[in-house]
Amino acid sequence: MVKLMKRKELEQHLQELDGFSKPKILLEQYETRAHIAACMLHTIESAYGDLCQKTVLDLGCGCSVLGVGSVLLGASYVLGVDIDEEALQISNSNINQLELNEVDLLHADVKIIPLLLGGNTKFDTVVMNPPFGTKHNKGLDSLFLEIGLQCLSDKGVLYSLHKSSTRDYFHRKAPSWKVEARVLAELRYDLPATYKFHNKTSVDIEVDFWRFEKKN
Ligand SMILES: C[S@@+](CC[C@H](N)C(=O)[O-])C[C@H]1O[C@@H](n2cnc3c(N)ncnc32)[C@H](O)[C@@H]1O
Repeated sequence: MVKLMKRKELEQHLQELDGFSKPKILLEQYETRAHIAACMLHTIESAYGDLCQKTVLDLGCGCSVLGVGSVLLGASYVLGVDIDEEALQISNSNINQLELNEVDLLHADVKIIPLLLGGNTKFDTVVMNPPFGTKHNKGLDSLFLEIGLQCLSDKGVLYSLHKSSTRDYFHRKAPSWKVEARVLAELRYDLPATYKFHNKTSVDIEVDFWRFEKKN
């Protein structure tokens, strides 16, 4: 059995990764901070065993902090998908720097992922920090979730971050998606000022860390 990397050590590795060089506001490009990513991924593995030796889809991977962290915790394969070519170049450099062979990257809009992957490619685990679906991207958070669920194997599990204000909505939707939905943690998420108020350097928003498990 592979020994689980300590959370602090995982966080240190993730801190070394390059983030977005010129974040695109319309694509809601803010990376998951190393501390939050390490807490999420460590919980996914230590509490549920959903990373080690699992195939993982990192939807809206950005610079691949979640995908790289998944491999460091033992994932056998990760596919990172993003609509932005520049983000994928940064991902590529992060992956090469750590000499990881387990990660592939796909340049695509999340909307066409089921079509591109076909019915046969299914993942054990999906990890994502999708756009929150604000302003120009209304509904994109929910779309990421629905597409992510479509890409899961029969016993697959999806982990995601969403604004706490959408909690009731996702709880209501869960039965129609045939998933068991649980909020694992409530976080204060440090959003760079460019995305909210320009008179502050950053702003905390309330975010839920979710687990969606397929019901068969
Ligand atoms: C909040 S960022 C998170 C990035 C990364 N997952 C992380 O945790 O650091 C959301 C990501 O979704 C990507 N994105 C936005 N719209 C997309 C779409 N329609 N299809 C695929 N990716 C998209 C953005 O380019 C961005 O990298």
